[in-house]
Amino acid sequence: MVRLLDVCKVYENGTPALSGINLKIDDGEFVFLVGSSASGKSTIVKILTSEVKMTSGRGIVNGFNLNRIKPSKIPELRRSVGIVFQDFRLIDKKTVYENVAFAMRAVGAPPRIIKKRVPYVLQLVGLEHKMKSFPNELSGGERQRVAVARALVNNPSMIIADEPTGNLDPKMSIEIMSLLEKINELGTTMLVVTHERELVNEFSKRVIAIDQGRIISDKMGGYYQNENL
Ligand SMILES: Nc1ncnc2c1ncn2[C@@H]1O[C@H](COP(=O)(O)OP(=O)(O)O)[C@@H](O)[C@H]1O
Ligand SMILES: [Mg+2]
Repeated sequence: MVRLLDVCKVYENGTPALSGINLKIDDGEFVFLVGSSASGKSTIVKILTSEVKMTSGRGIVNGFNLNRIKPSKIPELRRSVGIVFQDFRLIDKKTVYENVAFAMRAVGAPPRIIKKRVPYVLQLVGLEHKMKSFPNELSGGERQRVAVARALVNNPSMIIADEPTGNLDPKMSIEIMSLLEKINELGTTMLVVTHERELVNEFSKRVIAIDQGRIISDKMGGYYQNENL
């Protein structure tokens, strides 16, 4: 779950990024966050994971109070949120299996649990047959599936995907979005950031549009009713 109340962000160099963001996402929701380049989408993502501190306002993510969270609790907050990036961020020298297992080792999961869980999530994303492949042996869509498996492996309550299809062709993009939809249907809250209007309109979801650091619409279904954007 996410609650942002009147959140503002001005970067240290004086760039304003967010002005008065109010946002409520409940457990189990699927939400698209859309807006043009530099509208503040990634800043919201970074505030939600406490990578960036808000200048003013209040926020809660999965029960963690962003205003009062102690540095020692930040890893726990981040474990409750799986992140998927546009550029996949896989480790080239590790196999698909090892990329996903690594995320579990990093949080101290026992080997016995890792051995069970990694094949399960790889099967969920349709990559069980590529376990021993290296990232450079995969297509873009397959690489992003590995990243989704890695985001999912520690069983987060929410996944945030920041432009997950930015490096993929339209067909692959639909496949990745469908995968995120399936994961959401299994119970994980999903926040998907994108600026691809046609892709969003393929899915009937809640769409929050942001422009110049402000939310300008929040509704079910289509994207950009305001044709000025
Ligand atoms: N670390 C930073 N320092 C200064 N300005 C930043 C930083 N990160 C982002 N910005 C600025 O904040 C605004 C919003 O950026 P961002 O949240 O990355 O937008 P989006 O993800 O929608 O493209 C932009 O004007 C951008 O240049
Ligand atoms: Mg961005």
